Amino acid sequence: MNERPRRNRKSAAIRDMIRETELHVTDFIYPLFLVDGKGISVPIASMPGISRYSEDLIIRQIEECIVLGLNNFVIFPAVEDSLKDKEASYAMRSDNFYLRTIRSIKQHFPEVCLMSDVAMDPYSSDGHDGYVLGGNIDNDRTLPILGRMAVHQAEAGIDIVGPSDMMDGRVQHIRESLDSAGFSDTSIMSYTAKYASAYYGPFRDALDSAPKFGDKKTYQMDPANKREALREAALDEAEGADYLMVKPALCYLDVIQTLKENTTLPIAAYNVSGEYAMLKAAGEKGWINYDKAMPEMLLSIKRAGADIILSYFAKEYAQMRGKG
Ligand code: PBG
Repeated sequence: MNERPRRNRKSAAIRDMIRETELHVTDFIYPLFLVDGKGISVPIASMPGISRYSEDLIIRQIEECIVLGLNNFVIFPAVEDSLKDKEASYAMRSDNFYLRTIRSIKQHFPEVCLMSDVAMDPYSSDGHDGYVLGGNIDNDRTLPILGRMAVHQAEAGIDIVGPSDMMDGRVQHIRESLDSAGFSDTSIMSYTAKYASAYYGPFRDALDSAPKFGDKKTYQMDPANKREALREAALDEAEGADYLMVKPALCYLDVIQTLKENTTLPIAAYNVSGEYAMLKAAGEKGWINYDKAMPEMLLSIKRAGADIILSYFAKEYAQMRGKG
């Protein structure tokens, strides 16, 4: 035999030397759930290890992450039902607890990178990402709402706004809104290929944001489609996105790879709540070696082509790395 691939695997030193993909703590964005109040920490049953925190405790979380080398965060608000309405107007109140907390985080830690979620669902009495009119999601009525939401977030100090709503034309609308308000340095990470997925279930528990009627299939993509992801990517790029995201990650590794091969923009992948829940549950039952399976899962997302990984595992992964 001339060819013996095993020669390149014969020792840890050699394996380390030829490794093609390496995860870094700096690749990650850590999602955090925010509630109004003080001293509040409410565990999310379907996401063991993840809680909703009030401002003071989110600040403590961020402090712990910074020590671990984790500096990027996406913050999602869990809004009380009584504050929700058709127009998601609470998102536009500059004194709301979300914007207040963003300002406070930026005051405490000016060096961290903060990403927002731009979509109506956490604030909408209909639980949809867009404006509901006559039982339909009205695309063009949604755009100005998203634009205003993004400007409020930029004003509060958000570094990257994250439109997760999948309305047509939203990246351009948000870009124009930000620029005309003087926020030309605020970046846009577009949820480019966001699929209508069952894997968002635990997240909707966390925010109590499930749609009040129907589903999200008229705006989120059909899991069967890949070429359509290229179409979305071309539009987002033309409309001014700074990053393209694929979501969820695991069932869509092929989509991550395809987008990576067809753009020069950085690619992000969202390792979503259901993916987290699945692995946690199998680990808790002793059906899988969690400590090994978790980094393997994250590595697969990077190997597929993701430059950036949004993951609920990020902090634990960083802690694991810290221990060596
Ligand atoms: C809503 C939004 C969702 C997630 C991020 N932003 C849920 C949805 O579209 O219903 C899901 C994240 C996760 O499951 O971890 N705009």
